Amino acid sequence: MTHAPVPTTDFNIEDSNPTANPSIAQVLDARLSRRGLLRGAVGAASVGTLAATGLSGCATAGASLPAAASQLGFNPVAKSLADAVVVPEGYTAQIVYALGDPLTAGTPAFKNDGTDTDFANRAGDHHDGMEWFGLDAQGQPSATASLRGLIAMNHEATTDEKLSSFFIHANGGTATLPRPAAEVDKELMIHGLSVVELQSDGKQWAYKPGSAFNRRVTTITEAAIHGAARGSEHLVTQYDATGTKARGTLNNCGAGRTPWGTYVSGEENWFGYFFRDAKDDDARKKDKQVQGLKRYGRKAGEASRHGWESAGAADQYARWNNSAIGASAKDDYRNEMNTFGYVVELDPYDHKAVLRKRTSLGRMGHENITFARAVAGQPVVAYMGDDARGEYIYKFVSNAKWDAADASAANRLAAGDKYLDQGTLYVARFKEDGSGQWLELSLDNPVIANSSYFEFKTAADVAVFTRLAADAVGATRMDRPEWAGVNPKNGEVYITLTNNSKRTVETTDSANPRVYTDLKGSKEQKGNVNGHIVRLAEKQPHDSSFRWDIYLFASEAGADRGSVNLSGLTEENDLSSPDGLVFSKASGICWIETDDGAFTDKTNCMLLAALPGRLGDGGEKTLTYGEKQVRTHVGKAQTSASFKRFLVGPKGAEITGITETPDGRALFINIQHPGENTKMADVNDPSRFESRWPANAGYGAGQRPRSATIVITKKDGGVVGA
Ligand code: FEO
Ligand code: CA
Ligand code: CA
Repeated sequence: MTHAPVPTTDFNIEDSNPTANPSIAQVLDARLSRRGLLRGAVGAASVGTLAATGLSGCATAGASLPAAASQLGFNPVAKSLADAVVVPEGYTAQIVYALGDPLTAGTPAFKNDGTDTDFANRAGDHHDGMEWFGLDAQGQPSATASLRGLIAMNHEATTDEKLSSFFIHANGGTATLPRPAAEVDKELMIHGLSVVELQSDGKQWAYKPGSAFNRRVTTITEAAIHGAARGSEHLVTQYDATGTKARGTLNNCGAGRTPWGTYVSGEENWFGYFFRDAKDDDARKKDKQVQGLKRYGRKAGEASRHGWESAGAADQYARWNNSAIGASAKDDYRNEMNTFGYVVELDPYDHKAVLRKRTSLGRMGHENITFARAVAGQPVVAYMGDDARGEYIYKFVSNAKWDAADASAANRLAAGDKYLDQGTLYVARFKEDGSGQWLELSLDNPVIANSSYFEFKTAADVAVFTRLAADAVGATRMDRPEWAGVNPKNGEVYITLTNNSKRTVETTDSANPRVYTDLKGSKEQKGNVNGHIVRLAEKQPHDSSFRWDIYLFASEAGADRGSVNLSGLTEENDLSSPDGLVFSKASGICWIETDDGAFTDKTNCMLLAALPGRLGDGGEKTLTYGEKQVRTHVGKAQTSASFKRFLVGPKGAEITGITETPDGRALFINIQHPGENTKMADVNDPSRFESRWPANAGYGAGQRPRSATIVITKKDGGVVGA
């Protein structure tokens, strides 16, 4: 095959949305306004409004309502550029599980010098989203166990420079094509998921290298295709002509926990791992998939992130060449990309259970997935962001109504089949007046069925080319939707919009209203530099309409309070690029994590704690850009009592992934890609590493930086943050 030059794309911030939404949206408003409640929903008139305290008495899944913290019980930490994890006075952070740690008793200790092998039995790289799954003393699933449990985790990506994942190769690896098979074999194994058992003696936490629960899922693990796209022509490959099986999961970013106790993980920036021949568009002639391939960010001739397709003719390398080079789809991997981009479901308690790709939840750059509180007799509802510039916010509403008995289902993946395989996907459109609509993405929507933008003939067309369906209905282009979280106290949904360097005055709208210039040293940064967090309220989670406001505008404390620092942030809570967001069920605290490159001249990435308010607790605001005025809705200004910085991470790291024990006394977070700005040429010169964490905190061999999980506890044994 003809190879393009090595990649220059930042695969984490792809933008390939060519549409001019929301201007399309106004045209379509009249057609769609006739649509009432979402399909699968119970009539709203027969169901009361969800009051703040109206949740009690419903049959629900899992934990009881949080004893909402009335105050944040710690002193904020200062911004930091140290190569260390900084936590408040009275707290301890302990490293428990890092890249390369052995998952079986027979796997040698990690040397961390680039000579290690057998990554199928070690922790993967770039720890990201994760969830806690408790175990009782007999090793059975427990919703309350807080000292012994499993953590299921995403291993999103790897620290690379010009093709090679350099910290796992002795000399940094090969930055030219073709890539050596031995290097690619390692890289294929450091992506995916892991399940690892952890235990505490009440003081110290440790993972169990020999636990029978430990598991790795990699890019080559078999997965079953479920939902609307199962058996579709779009999923036929040389590996499986029936379109029902695929291999592996990739670029798993945010995570979630289902009401029936399984782990769900979002496949995010998968498209960059595939190569297409320069002439692939021509080879496919009138194949409508060419439009889809471009919309999902893969132009013909572009280099892949790691050049895996170049490592040889064997199937495990050839599959990364997504070109039409065989006689038919059964004879090549032209459809291999279509087997990625889904929410995948894993049963963390059963290490033999096959991973399931839940295609009815759509194909996109999935960040996390978060569920509304499950209520007996009502549909199960999940919220999701598609993280790329100008992409959309989605929700899924199940056909099946929640049966509280499924919270302890014997066959958890069968419960997943019941709630995630049949249902309806919706995409959000925000309006200036503070209202919004969920637009149905199905052939029952005439805008989709009659679209001249893309030919939607089957439910699989919508499931596989979801972004095109969302374009067609006129969804609102957002500033990179990342994690969604549901406030357990009142059901309001918070979605982080991390930043958008391409937002311009012309494209500002009420829900993405800021454009400004920020300085990083002498470098000018433009657009929505620091990001924001939008908040939605629905009368019922399955409703077709919502109200919204902007809970928080991220900003530097010193920025102009009239146009940039609209939430009144101070030195104690200023931040940039909110990404991870989770509500604690134990404390009610809204935890917010950052993955930032804009404020990193002043501070490393961080974790903050917020006491959330409620929709409408602020007011209206009009931003003026010359002739253009943008009306928006701003939540209440923050104070040092409502919002505080809790932790700052080491150099070059993103803070991501967050879960807690049910008692709220152990909070786990991930430190992803410390030292990621290290040059590959310096791979054997620790004095030139950007970071030497966690070795410099006393964890493990070698000096090379490693992604790792840490656990934060309070020295007095109390609930973290409260
Ligand atoms: Fe993997 Fe959108 O962060
Ligand atoms: Ca700045
Ligand atoms: Ca993220």
